[in-house]
Amino acid sequence: MNVALEQVQVRLTDLRPTTDDITADVLAGLSRIPRRLPSKYFYDARGSALFEEITRQPEYYLTRVETRLLDARMQRIADAIGARAHVVEYGSGSGRKTERLLEGLDDPVAYTPIEISRATLLDTTARLARQFPRVEMLPVCADFTQPVDLPEPCRRPRTALVFFPGSTLGNFARGDAVALLAAMRQTMGAQGRALIGIDLDKDTATLEAAYNDAAGVTAAFTLNLLARLNREIGSDFDLDGFRHRAVYARERHRIETCLVSERAQVVHVAGRRFGFARGEQMLVEYSHKYTDPGFADLALAAGLRVSARWNDDDDRFGLRLLQAI
Ligand code: AVI
Repeated sequence: MNVALEQVQVRLTDLRPTTDDITADVLAGLSRIPRRLPSKYFYDARGSALFEEITRQPEYYLTRVETRLLDARMQRIADAIGARAHVVEYGSGSGRKTERLLEGLDDPVAYTPIEISRATLLDTTARLARQFPRVEMLPVCADFTQPVDLPEPCRRPRTALVFFPGSTLGNFARGDAVALLAAMRQTMGAQGRALIGIDLDKDTATLEAAYNDAAGVTAAFTLNLLARLNREIGSDFDLDGFRHRAVYARERHRIETCLVSERAQVVHVAGRRFGFARGEQMLVEYSHKYTDPGFADLALAAGLRVSARWNDDDDRFGLRLLQAI
C-alpha cells in the first residue's frame, strides 16, 4: 500500500494485529497463574507518547546513555557494517537513534522499521523520509515477534543490518528472546549483522528508580495498557483498582513490572469473568539486564556470536554487534 505522508510517498506493509488477536492474547494471559498481560500492547498512540516521556525522566538513563554511546562509536560501527546496507529496525519508536545510524552509515540503501504502533510508524517514517531522501523508506506495520517478509528495495543492498536498540530484547522471556534473535539471524543472512542495545546489570537502587520514576510517568504508562484494552476489546478493568509495581529480581536478572489489584474484584473480558484477590499481582513486563557471559550465551542459543562490543564509560549500557556463527 502506498501512503502519502506530508508530501512524501512511502510503501507501507500493514499487518497490524486485529482486535481478535489482542482479545485472544489477553484471554490466554488472564487464564494463566500468575495472570499476565502482554507488554507489546503498551504501545498505542498514548502508550508510545508516554514511553517517549519516560525516556526524558532523570531516572531513566537507558535512552540517554545509549544515544551518546551510539554517537561516540558511530564510525567504528559504520566501518564494521560496510556500504549500502538495508537497515531493518525491530520497533522504531521515535527514530532518534535511527537518525544517528542512517547519518553515520556509508550510503544506506533502504530503511524498514517494523513497528506495531501505526501512528508512531508513520510519523517516524515521514520525518526520516524528509531527512534522508536517498534512503528508500519501506515501513512494515506489524508485530515484529511474528515472521515478516521484508519488502525489496529498488536499489540493490550489499548487506543487511538489523537494528534493535533500547534494550527492547530485555522485554522478552528467554525462550522468546532466543526465537527473536534466531529470526533476526534469518533476516540479516549469513553476511549481515545485528546491532543490539542491552541494558547492563547494575545495582538494584539505580534499576528500580528507572522503573519507578518520581513523576509517575512509568506508572501511567503501565496503567494505560488497561485503558487501551478497555477501549479496544471492551474489557472493564477499573484503572483505580490496580497499582504499578516494578521490582528488580536479581537472581533472574530482570525488572518485573506488575499491576497489583488494590481490592478483590472481577474483570470481564469478551464475556468471561476473571476474579482478582486483593494484592494479587498481574505480570505485565520483564526488563532483563545483561552480563557479558549471559548475553553471549543467549546469542549462541540463536546461532549468533558477538563480533564487537561497546559500553559507555560507566558500563551502564552496551551495544553488541552480532553475526551468524
Ligand atoms: C522499551 N523497553 C526497553 C522499555 C524497558 O526499559 O523495558 C519499556 C519500559 N517499561 C517501563 N519503562 C520503560
